[in-house]
Amino acid sequence: MTTDTTYADQTATLDQGHTAGPDPGQVQRFAGELLGALSAGSTALMTSVGHRTGLFDAMAGLPPSTSAQVAATAGLHERYVREWLGAMTTARVVVHDPTDDTYRLPEEHAAVLTRASGPDNLAAVMQFLPLMAEVEEEVVGCFAEGGGVPYDRFGRFHEVMAELSADTNDAALLERIVPLVPELPDRLAQGIRVADIGCGQGHAVNLLARAYPDSDFVGYDFSEDALAVARAEAQEWGLANARFELRDVTSLAGSGTFGLVTAFDAVHDQAHPATVLEQVAEHLDPDGVFLMVDMHASSDVDKNMDLPWAPYLYAVSTMHCMTVSLSLDGDGLGTAWGTELARQMLADAGFGDVRVERLEEDFINSYYIARR
Ligand SMILES: C[S@@+](CC[C@H](N)C(=O)[O-])C[C@H]1O[C@@H](n2cnc3c(N)ncnc32)[C@H](O)[C@@H]1O
Repeated sequence: MTTDTTYADQTATLDQGHTAGPDPGQVQRFAGELLGALSAGSTALMTSVGHRTGLFDAMAGLPPSTSAQVAATAGLHERYVREWLGAMTTARVVVHDPTDDTYRLPEEHAAVLTRASGPDNLAAVMQFLPLMAEVEEEVVGCFAEGGGVPYDRFGRFHEVMAELSADTNDAALLERIVPLVPELPDRLAQGIRVADIGCGQGHAVNLLARAYPDSDFVGYDFSEDALAVARAEAQEWGLANARFELRDVTSLAGSGTFGLVTAFDAVHDQAHPATVLEQVAEHLDPDGVFLMVDMHASSDVDKNMDLPWAPYLYAVSTMHCMTVSLSLDGDGLGTAWGTELARQMLADAGFGDVRVERLEEDFINSYYIARR
């Protein structure tokens, strides 16, 4: 939503004339903003479609082309492609030339829309909108009945999540994320035990295991489907030092201790996050490190007003992260639990030393480096 006044300015002038009814100018301005939201949401959905069909990747390599040429390059049906191009043109994503009825994807737009863009590809994250919409009916029911929607109701969740985290980890895990803990590259090279909790499809574990053959890695998750993908990649890469275990990480009993525990976006949707953090602290070596990657936000909604993607965080929380936790009778911490609460919960779990970092390659997360 683009405005030339601040939120405080706008809200200060609302509800000024209860007796006279709403200010017509304010009503019109707000209605315009809502229509902008309708268009932005539609653009997001069509951007997800463009990503999944490979249309952005196909257009990035093309000169100005007709809809038939774009469709032929992408191997898709022209009628659908032309309608999609209509959405993308009016959304100012694609440029249409009426003189020869051709379309082009400017390279500045391709830079944040194609698979070649790696972690800069914003088309991939748009897939979460249709994914959330799949469970709208059930979530609406939860507003009245309570409870939550369990993980297994989200068809493509693990696939989409793994795609997004792989974009970041392929670009940054070894060269930028591991060195956030200065001694870690050396310790991993010498050989330590490492656990990744809520590992999903396990790509981060496999990347680390391939880079550090003298360390031992285990990925824990309670999704057998996600673990099957993780194991297949480890096998394909011939990794003898990476294994994946079906486990509810609410308990790490019997797992031994670790020199490093990682959690990539896997704490905020836990049913019992405080217990999980306590378990991690308990199962760290005395000099061990917990690297917790989780959503960047403030715990205070008013401090998130200038976070451009804050409505997305609260939406993905309502429609996925919070509801999956509540489906297990959990705390429903929420995606935007925020830095203040994260620090407090880490301290309560026994982490006396916590540092928080941000990474250029990963706009959405904060990186917590926690020691006991
Ligand atoms: C948001 S996903 C992140 C997956 C992965 N770390 C990544 O970055 O792609 C959270 C993961 O935590 C797993 N998970 C949630 N609660 C769990 C629990 N109590 N025990 C084990 N896994 C859990 C989910 O199955 C899911 O794979």
